[in-house]
Amino acid sequence: MANISILGLGAMGQALATRFLQQGHRLTVWNRTPDKAVPLLAKGAREVKSAKDAIAASDVTVMCVLDYAASQR
Ligand SMILES: NC(=O)c1ccc[n+]([C@@H]2O[C@H](COP(=O)([O-])OP(=O)(O)OC[C@H]3O[C@@H](n4cnc5c(N)ncnc54)[C@H](OP(=O)(O)O)[C@@H]3O)[C@@H](O)[C@H]2O)c1
Repeated sequence: MANISILGLGAMGQALATRFLQQGHRLTVWNRTPDKAVPLLAKGAREVKSAKDAIAASDVTVMCVLDYAASQR
């Protein structure tokens, strides 16, 4: 099992996160609007306070924000 972080918990990020948790991966999440992490915490994800912390937490990071411009913020 891998340590995976996801940045961005919109529709696509939520779907990816749920699938990673179902597969037994250790999942760290960050979203600009923290409320969106709540359903995933109940399924075993760990939330961190910044994108930087999420990237540092895992070997693999999946960025799933709206567009390229958002990924640069
Ligand atoms: N949904 C699909 O079926 C699907 C399929 C294939 C590919 N994709 C791709 O997946 C990506 C995400 O799509 P989505 O459907 O998940 O979109 P979405 O539901 O609209 O979610 C957008 C995400 O981007 C974040 N975001 C937007 N602007 C931001 C900024 N300036 N700084 C930080 N975070 C920002 C949002 O954070 P907040 O929650 O804080 O607003 C949210 O987590 C897009 O590139 C889309 O093309 C989606």
